[in-house]
Amino acid sequence: MKAIQVGLIGLGTVGAGTFHVLQRNQAEIRGRAGRGIEIAMVAARNAERAKAYQAQVGDGVPCVADAQELVDNPAIDIVVELIGGVEPARTLVLRAIANGKHVVTANKALLALHGTEIFEAAREKGVVVAFEAAVAGGIPIIKALREGLTANRIEWIAGIINGTTNFILSEMRGKGLDFATVLKEAQRLGYAESDPTFDIEGVDAAHKLTIMSAIAFGVPVQFDKAHVEGISSLQATDIKYAEQLGYRIKLLGITRRRQGSGSQGIELRVHPTLIPATRLIANVEGAMNAVVVQADAVGTTLYYGKGAGAEPTASAVVADLVDVTRLHTADPDHRVPHLAFQPDAMSDTPILPMAEVHTAFYLRLVVADQPGVLSRITTILAEHDISIDAVLQRESGEGERQTDLIILTHDTVEGRMNEALARMQGLPTVLAPIVRIRKEELA
Ligand code: HSE
Repeated sequence: MKAIQVGLIGLGTVGAGTFHVLQRNQAEIRGRAGRGIEIAMVAARNAERAKAYQAQVGDGVPCVADAQELVDNPAIDIVVELIGGVEPARTLVLRAIANGKHVVTANKALLALHGTEIFEAAREKGVVVAFEAAVAGGIPIIKALREGLTANRIEWIAGIINGTTNFILSEMRGKGLDFATVLKEAQRLGYAESDPTFDIEGVDAAHKLTIMSAIAFGVPVQFDKAHVEGISSLQATDIKYAEQLGYRIKLLGITRRRQGSGSQGIELRVHPTLIPATRLIANVEGAMNAVVVQADAVGTTLYYGKGAGAEPTASAVVADLVDVTRLHTADPDHRVPHLAFQPDAMSDTPILPMAEVHTAFYLRLVVADQPGVLSRITTILAEHDISIDAVLQRESGEGERQTDLIILTHDTVEGRMNEALARMQGLPTVLAPIVRIRKEELA
């Protein structure tokens, strides 16, 4: 059978990785896919990369500057979109779909923001949009959630899904350095981009979490309802205190189905989180990614690997290419649905506002070291029905009139904690803004 014809948009790190993996493992890939997978055309706006590529492969595979030419080429069966960002990616993907082509993409921002429109367009045209590489790079988490765990009711997912921030947090903890110093080092080593905003402010993680949440709970992608908080204001002091109490701080993406008494809905949140140091995920260090899934039949499962990089991400892109090649001639009604659930079985369960989220807290208060301070604070917590799990007070130095008071709470409702925090902050003996970090046992 003739090899399936692929058009590759973007010759950056992942594009080049995809090219090399397809070439190096072509015999295995053909054996698994049932036919060859051939890059038939490439689109790259960067003239230097295009020239280098052409020098490597010769003139047999044309490289065009205008990606529209590629998506309009009738010889192409699958378009691989690896340019990232919302535009022009959205326009190109929708045009490829309109032209009846399958799409493989690594673009989490595009799917988190416009997934509903894109999946609907694909369904109408009977084509597939595959996106394993969009979440946690080389970890096959989409396949696991959509197929491997399909028997289960998923309860929650918690993931380290941004390598840059995990690298920064690991260095802050390991070397006792502050955020700004480690960020500069991460940029020097190429882990963090020159504009690191999307990574350090939690946006990249929230894009990925939004996609996983939709698949886990059969709800539309709703990035606009995600709570997004990054690590840029995290202080080395809190990492140190957390460690003394047996916890690590990780930037987690958490999505959980909440049911029973109280608010019903889905939590969708990215923020720094204390987790017990004994959990496997707490020991995921450097730029690695990991996702824990709690589901009713299987229990807890953990997926670990590289969340970025040329060949780890290419591994996911090529897996999608093999999947789509196998499905190419299949009846569209018998394919795995884009978001795991059939379109008529999607749920309208709401995403919960943060005030209704249940979680525990780490609080650090700088307080005057005088009688009655601790009791006033604990009284406020008790009056808001918030139960204390542990208290740690730094011994004051000679002549020092203030100290750090660390409190760990049991689970509560975030809105209740916000009210208690406002009252505590108003006490004259609380001398600085209270640091508040959420805490999860992940049990
Ligand atoms: N910038 C991301 C990270 C990789 O640091 O994990 C691509 O999503």
